[in-house]
Amino acid sequence: MQTGIQIDAGTQRDFGSCGELARACPPLVEHEPFAYWSFLAGFPNGTLLARHEGRDIGFLCSFETPNAAIGRFVWQIGVLEAYRRSGVAMMLLDSLRNHFPQEPLMSACIDPDNTPSMSLFNRFAERYGGTMHRNEAFTGELANTPVDEYGEDFFALEFQT
Ligand SMILES: CC(C)(COP(=O)(O)OP(=O)(O)OC[C@H]1O[C@@H](n2cnc3c(N)ncnc32)[C@H](O)[C@@H]1OP(=O)(O)O)[C@@H](O)C(=O)NCCC(=O)NCCS
Repeated sequence: MQTGIQIDAGTQRDFGSCGELARACPPLVEHEPFAYWSFLAGFPNGTLLARHEGRDIGFLCSFETPNAAIGRFVWQIGVLEAYRRSGVAMMLLDSLRNHFPQEPLMSACIDPDNTPSMSLFNRFAERYGGTMHRNEAFTGELANTPVDEYGEDFFALEFQT
């Protein structure tokens, strides 16, 4: 566990930092600043930043959906390479869970070959007595679209609440 790391809820001014972190964390894609701003402004506590000695070193961007089959969608999560394997991503997810402890379902889009990410979300679900499985709520409608071509699958994390 890395010490001296703080997890903060993002403010509207953190849009640039989210983009920079996404760029530094392939396979994440850096999206438009306006996209990050929209999440920060529209979904309080859905975007969290990990900070170490005044530097932003990781982030998580999520939003709640009204679709009961999707629940909260974790859009992006990334940690700078130098800080990986120290529990930072788990701290971000723990903090998200602390903000929204009653939510029964979380979804994420993950390349099944992305072992760190698959393992992270599996461990996270287990930590809260939950399970992770493929989420069929997405698949049919997205076949042969650019989203499908990312080569990622949609997963659901179900929690006991
Ligand atoms: C995935 C990512 C966010 C993990 O961040 P991290 O801070 O290193 O993860 P943590 O240290 O909190 O690890 C928590 C758990 O995740 C899993 N994990 C993390 N990195 C792993 C790796 N390289 N190999 C296998 N499992 C890994 C482990 O289960 C780990 O628990 P453990 O340390 O007790 O074994 C980071 O590797 C990253 O930014 N990758 C690039 C961007 C990305 O792929 N994002 C996800 C897209 S869906």
